[in-house]
Amino acid sequence: MKTAFISGITGQDGSYLAEFLLGKGYDVHGIVRRTSTFNTDRLDHIYSDPHARDCRVHLHYGDLANAARLRQLIDQIQPDEVYNLGAQSHVRVSFDQAEYTADIVATGTLRLLEAFRDYARSSGRDPRFYQASSSEMFGASAPPQTETTPFYPRSPYAVSKVAAHWYAINFREAHNLFIANGILFNHESPRRGETFVTRKITRALGRIREGLQDKLYLGNLESRRDWGHAADYVRAMWMMLQHSEPQDFVIATGESYSVREFLDKAAAYAGVDWQKHVEFDPRYLRPTEVDYLEGDCTKAKTLLGWAPEISFDQLVRAMVEGDLELARQERTLLAAGHQVSVRGGAHG
Ligand code: NAP
Ligand code: GDD
Repeated sequence: MKTAFISGITGQDGSYLAEFLLGKGYDVHGIVRRTSTFNTDRLDHIYSDPHARDCRVHLHYGDLANAARLRQLIDQIQPDEVYNLGAQSHVRVSFDQAEYTADIVATGTLRLLEAFRDYARSSGRDPRFYQASSSEMFGASAPPQTETTPFYPRSPYAVSKVAAHWYAINFREAHNLFIANGILFNHESPRRGETFVTRKITRALGRIREGLQDKLYLGNLESRRDWGHAADYVRAMWMMLQHSEPQDFVIATGESYSVREFLDKAAAYAGVDWQKHVEFDPRYLRPTEVDYLEGDCTKAKTLLGWAPEISFDQLVRAMVEGDLELARQERTLLAAGHQVSVRGGAHG
């Protein structure tokens, strides 16, 4: 049985990856941050009592800000594969919390890489490392973006991801380690965080449809993104670590849509006339925007045999259906006299 270590296991991708690796027979370890409320909702369906003999998902308190703890966990768990998905991953928030974003996204990656390098040396094993790089690194570079497109980052988040990307390459070359960067374009799902635009839209449409909300405030509707489904993308992460050589790969669908087009399609599925409900709020604009991302994943198709299986239509439909169901549940709770919290941060 192989063992995997995941930072960011409580996030969208972490939950899909954990599920995928369990299906492959892995023992899965992940770090969770200590919070005053539970942050493991996305893992509830695969998490079992740690006292159970067949428990294969193991959660440990840890943080990318804490090098000693990362080192201790890696040495203790002795993973075959390390997936570094942990991040302050919100682009807009990174303008407000630039230093923190750099500390977790860039220096946090360096901390984990150093622990990984020393573990690889002392154990004499050949463990593998996946780094969650991002299409956001291409920023202002024109589409279609490939592995050879120059980076032109447009946010503190993107600059930090570029640093992490190059740390990963340097550690691969300097220490002869198996480290792969996956340059993933936007990927969404019904488990997407509620402050990213797709989920913000589908969540609001569900609530509007059920009469629980009237307005949806958005920023720039004209930017274009290449949106895939997270379940397809975590498969690509794993495939990169099974390849004979450590390399970097773009993972994308090759199709792009504007935020407005996403809104049109999602609202049609939800049966909502969005023009009556959507209003512009400048607080959701970014000081420097990324206008157009569309990836070319020919390299991944050729070398890994990877291709997306879930279409844009299927993605939008699944997200809308999930959020309609959630809104119905909220309405039922409200009707029974319970309180429901309307979430969505000021920076969403
Ligand atoms: P996400 O849903 O925001 O999840 C981020 C994860 O990182 C969460 O588990 C979060 O924990 C954890 N985290 C945050 N700060 C941390 C810290 N200081 N120490 C340890 N863990 C920390 O992000 P995602 O969409 O799953 O994305 C996964 C990774 O891929 C991220 O690195 C992201 O930047 C990158 N990426 C995402 C996309 C995309 O479109 N989804 C595209 C390209 C790259 P909490 O649950 O406690 O907050
Ligand atoms: N979040 C948000 N909220 N975005 C909005 C809104 C809003 O109210 N209104 C318009 N947008 C626009 C943003 O300006 C951006 O152009 C686009 O919608 C997508 O924004 P997000 O969904 O927040 O994603 P992102 O593209 O900035 O970043 C995501 O993808 C990256 C990969 O390219 C994140 O998942 C990053 O972590 C990831 O690296």
